[in-house]
Amino acid sequence: MRKIVIAGNWKMYKTQAEALEFLQGFKSELDNTPDDREIVLCVPFTDLDSLSKTLHGSRIQIGAQNVHWETEGAYTGEIAAPMLTEVGVRYVVVGHSERRQYFGETDETVNLRLKAAQKAGLIPILCVGETKQQRDAGDIESHIFSQLAKGLVDVDQTNLVIAYEPIWAIGTGDTCAPAEANRVIGLIRSKLSNPNVPIQYGGSVKPDNVDEVMAQPEIDGALVGGASLEAKSFARIVNFQ
Ligand code: PGA
Repeated sequence: MRKIVIAGNWKMYKTQAEALEFLQGFKSELDNTPDDREIVLCVPFTDLDSLSKTLHGSRIQIGAQNVHWETEGAYTGEIAAPMLTEVGVRYVVVGHSERRQYFGETDETVNLRLKAAQKAGLIPILCVGETKQQRDAGDIESHIFSQLAKGLVDVDQTNLVIAYEPIWAIGTGDTCAPAEANRVIGLIRSKLSNPNVPIQYGGSVKPDNVDEVMAQPEIDGALVGGASLEAKSFARIVNFQ
């Protein structure tokens, strides 16, 4: 059985006060959430500690949005895995397209971060996906297969989540057709040594399309940006039918 993982990615949104306000509205919506799904909130670094304390003993897991490959060192602006695990973080997003696009993240640094996360006991969520240009040129497979081949060198596939996030669908409202996302995720799975790795879809997942996305046989969860910022909206996504 593959695990279902629904993760919110807050990106650079929410102060601590805003995060705690979100939780007040969100937690009360989870009373009837089926046990079959893991709920994760990937939040800014400054929110991790207070959220982790507030959520202690709840079913909501905390995730970070990046992790460095060294355990400490002269790396201004970075965060190390022991700093995350100390405050109760369980998951970490690695190689998000915004990190690759704006902050020079490469498949090689993604690979280093994945291994460091796993070594510290974190579950990394590896993001892969093609640009509109690559899609139009028919390069989806070659691009994603290359991201996987380079990113997954020496990575333990028993402690991993992958998110297929077509870049043109992120934050645009232009969701990838669920059947197409299902097809690409099936291709991703065919390249893995462990077929039970949960593979999420990400890119404009909303309350009104989540049921169709999650009905696809290959899709094991969602990585949700914009629609995870509002408690009722993310609760509807977590409670997909
Ligand atoms: P979105 O973002 O849901 O706002 O499209 C998804 C993501 O970037 O993980």
